[in-house]
Amino acid sequence: MPDAIPFTRGVPAADLIPVDDLRDATRRALDADPVAALSYAPGGYRPLREWIGARHGVDAGRVLITNGSLQAIGFLGRHFFADRDGAAVVEAPTYDRTLKILREAGADLHAVPLDPDGLDVDRFADLLAGGLRPRLVYLIPTYQNPSGACASLERRQALVELARRYDLVLVEDDPYGLLRFEGDPVPTLHELDGGEHVIYCSSFTKTVAPGVRTGYLVVPERLVKPLAVLSENTHIGPNTLAEAVLAAYCGAGRFEPNVERATAGLRTRRDAMEAALRAHFPVGARWATPRGGYFFWVELPDGVDTTDALPAAAEQGVPYVRGADFFAGEGGRDAVRLAYSACPADRIDEGIARLAGVFASHPAAVA
Ligand SMILES: Cc1ncc(COP(=O)(O)O)c(C=O)c1O
Repeated sequence: MPDAIPFTRGVPAADLIPVDDLRDATRRALDADPVAALSYAPGGYRPLREWIGARHGVDAGRVLITNGSLQAIGFLGRHFFADRDGAAVVEAPTYDRTLKILREAGADLHAVPLDPDGLDVDRFADLLAGGLRPRLVYLIPTYQNPSGACASLERRQALVELARRYDLVLVEDDPYGLLRFEGDPVPTLHELDGGEHVIYCSSFTKTVAPGVRTGYLVVPERLVKPLAVLSENTHIGPNTLAEAVLAAYCGAGRFEPNVERATAGLRTRRDAMEAALRAHFPVGARWATPRGGYFFWVELPDGVDTTDALPAAAEQGVPYVRGADFFAGEGGRDAVRLAYSACPADRIDEGIARLAGVFASHPAAVA
């Protein structure tokens, strides 16, 4: 079997992780206040909550730190669907693990299509006008997983407007927003709304390292208490030591430079994948070039079924995540999510060439 060049993992490559700075930060965290760094901290380690609160212009009390942002999404699923009833709106496609969480929470999922400019707000408005009242609307507006889409300012404004008109709760999941390759920054829904109708969710996984397992929510005042109770009943507090290390790391001004460094490394990989797709993928394959984040979303021509082709791709050492995994209902059978974040840039061309060979020779490629 050829050596592996996997396109599956939405994680930072080893060279994007700031190992030396995290080693220093660990020592400083333990030297500065060892007792605090090694104690329970319900809601999260206070200095990190303060650093996050300052970035988002809110009091630290509105920041709830979790062991990774997926846990934060899990808390929201449990809170909003405590009676295992009610609707949730999601993008189509959207992050597969959130789909699982919402399904397991008992939510009735309604999917609204997405294009490179974000959610189709007209379709969403039609659903609302038709009487749908979701308890939660889950959105990844910036460099979306899996599509790479980035919602335009107009769509963001329209979403906030709808949230106000119908008194909705929008969950803005934003782990990729800082990893911008080009174009002007677009305000978050949280910034546009002021934080009344938007719960903001983010993570240090994509900007620092997955192993710190640190994510967070910025919530409206009314949700502080119930989510704090849920968090405390789950784990008393999240991982204080990891948060103390991050607080030392961020407090020493290391976060922003690492975001810049990681963005540069990701941009190189994005460019390599774009060039490889152009060179090797079949005529008729479609994608929108991501302007940030970790992923290409590619739709294949000629009836290629990416579920059927997956074993052959794995055999060739170039597995991907099949498009169908990212849909609440039907969809994505001709699509793949290709993560460039974890691949060495100089292996991407060969990996994409191999994958193109799989699609060209796989029997399902003939419609
Ligand atoms: C959109 C989105 N939300 C949440 C997560 C979970 O990240 P964490 O490692 O913070 O749990 C991911 C990870 O891939 C993601 O893509």
